[in-house]
Amino acid sequence: MTQLWGGRFSEGMTPLMHQFNDSIYFDVRLWEADLDGSMAYARALARAGVITEEEADILQDGLDQVRAEFAQNRFELKASDEDIHTAVERRLGELVGEVAGKLHTGRSRNDQAATDTRLWLKRQIAQLRAEVVKLQQAIIAKADEYFNVIMPGYTHLQQAQPVRFSHWLLSYGWMLQRDRERLDDLTQRVDVLPLGSGALAGNPLGIDRPFLAEALGFAAISANSMDAVGDRDYLVEFLSWAAITQMHLSRLAEDLIIYSSREFGFVTIADAYSTGSSLMPQKKNADSLELIRGKTGRVVGHLTGLLTMLKGLPSTYDKDMQEDKEPLFDTVDTLLMSLPIAAGVVATLTVDASRIYDSMDSAMLATELADYLVSKGLPFRQAHHLVGEIVRKAIELDQPLFSFPLAAYQQFSPLFERDVHSWLTFNRAADRRTSLGGTGESAVREQWEALRRLVEERV
Ligand code: ARG
Repeated sequence: MTQLWGGRFSEGMTPLMHQFNDSIYFDVRLWEADLDGSMAYARALARAGVITEEEADILQDGLDQVRAEFAQNRFELKASDEDIHTAVERRLGELVGEVAGKLHTGRSRNDQAATDTRLWLKRQIAQLRAEVVKLQQAIIAKADEYFNVIMPGYTHLQQAQPVRFSHWLLSYGWMLQRDRERLDDLTQRVDVLPLGSGALAGNPLGIDRPFLAEALGFAAISANSMDAVGDRDYLVEFLSWAAITQMHLSRLAEDLIIYSSREFGFVTIADAYSTGSSLMPQKKNADSLELIRGKTGRVVGHLTGLLTMLKGLPSTYDKDMQEDKEPLFDTVDTLLMSLPIAAGVVATLTVDASRIYDSMDSAMLATELADYLVSKGLPFRQAHHLVGEIVRKAIELDQPLFSFPLAAYQQFSPLFERDVHSWLTFNRAADRRTSLGGTGESAVREQWEALRRLVEERV
């Protein structure tokens, strides 16, 4: 087998080493980026006078043919194709002959692999961003549909205070908004051209790097060739982003798994996002949500794996870095499935307002009772204590907190008057919270509008 770099070797690799070293079976996914990079580099070589314009034309023509082969699924891999870069160059040679051997002048697979990965990731980021937006849109629409449904808000998974369903759901819309901001921010650091850095020391041919950046659509050019070939920070950032985003999806999934259980019955997950059991005919499981939650493990694992792989590497490029691609690809694949699945689940779920109402514990109105006493002039600490005693009594009597007659309240404090019962409804409890960010109707409408604006304007 002839390797691209075979000249100084008298023996070939053992078959197992070959297999161990090859990355073609996964980095073949970079074919389009690799061809784009090579097209631009061929032009840059001609501009620098390293090859003639005619030779550049021949190279571009050949690369176009290779592109068509990949696009039409006709590209034939050979056993000697170590990675996507060598595969393309090998095929180019078969198509255009000796001139193919000029394409790699001054270029290394180190700057080439870095360029391909960045180009590829930029394109994936555009798709991921669009999927995040679609999930936000599903959330905004569903929040509107069930805007005024009141449900228990939880802390410690214990009923805490009444909130709007829309308020709960929009909380995820805001998490995703930050995810989108983080994605935009890190994109600046992905959008940097490494090509023209050579193996590590730079390009000796006067390659016009601004021309390359322009041709390939990169916003910036790496300033240090050693940094450029060894930098994988942008992947660490991206995988961190993915881990955070998938973690958000996982928490949404967990909420919905709980809310859709029989014990809760707050929501129903559409059949289209559920599966059955091979044994129990009655079962309908929210596998969509469980898989979102479950796949979070691998996404977090990929981040840990990448950081661990990088941590001890001497500068600049080391072959260890070839291990950056599988976690990256798998992470992108996982997010590009999980985001639309989550959007579909949200878009199709239905809410059972009366089941929710029936499940609500009147003890959630204890804070209202304390606030009531505060409105009558009692310091909050004392009110808190006193209401604690009332709650204890209600538990003893097994009676809802709001069902006591006025005289019963008055046994605890003379501050209670006839208006006390009007304070003790879940709706009123929610609607009193009108401060910015609260669950009161006007406040939720305000944040709903704000988020919608951010999503529709894509900012
Ligand atoms: N397949 C390699 C990678 O992904 C390409 C770079 C190889 N460079 C080298 N000097 N062996 O990292």
